[in-house]
Amino acid sequence: MSRTPLLAANWKMHKTVGEALEFLDALLPALPAEGPEVVLCPAYTALAPVVARCVETPVRVAAQNMHQAESGAFTGEVSAAMLLDLGVEDVILGHSERRALFAESDEALAEKLPTALEAGLEPILCVGEDEAQRDADQTAEVLTRQIEADLAAVEPEHLDRIVIAYEPIWAIGTGRTATPEQAQEAVALIRERVATRDAGAAERVRILYGGSVKPANAAELLAQPDVDGALVGGASLEAADFAAIVAAAAR
Ligand code: 13P
Repeated sequence: MSRTPLLAANWKMHKTVGEALEFLDALLPALPAEGPEVVLCPAYTALAPVVARCVETPVRVAAQNMHQAESGAFTGEVSAAMLLDLGVEDVILGHSERRALFAESDEALAEKLPTALEAGLEPILCVGEDEAQRDADQTAEVLTRQIEADLAAVEPEHLDRIVIAYEPIWAIGTGRTATPEQAQEAVALIRERVATRDAGAAERVRILYGGSVKPANAAELLAQPDVDGALVGGASLEAADFAAIVAAAAR
């Protein structure tokens, strides 16, 4: 089964509109004509201008979060319809920073995933263990729990429309990348968990690795048989670095 690699740039709370457009001026000419899918995830404030700049390019645009309700009294939140309205096609859900700093729960994610899918957005669901859980040998248990809880309300036939990102928390922004073997082992385990719901979807679902991915380590991570791409934070802020990571997946 060949899955098209996907490289996503999670800019987190970085880049004004001007900085985002400057990045695109450098990135777009540097992308390979054919090959991996590229998704940029700017802050809400830069979504519309980034979508406008990416029209007629192969680059897709994702939000970094979304509320599960259609509308309502949720100050500061944004709905799936609002994202679609801007031409956004993807949405990161359950990033560990949302889980740890903003109380994102598995219960909310179990609602967000079907809501995003019904709206026609491609969700990028993040899962991953923290350092204490890895040290205590609980990685498989944590990943299983997150996958089961977050995907509970997704119909089996829609599972392959989700992208899953394995992001070990101890590797995020620390410069401490998972070894290719650790990434492969965890991503294969996630695929196995999806297979318990639908074996065909598990073959098709794309599972990314995220956590200190850089031009220097991208190729060996992306060469792992179950690793279908990367969700890149820090190294996605520089167009040249992100383009080099995309190129590593195109090889
Ligand atoms: P870093 O690449 O900066 O470690 O961040 C990873 C991440 O959180 C992407 O979502």
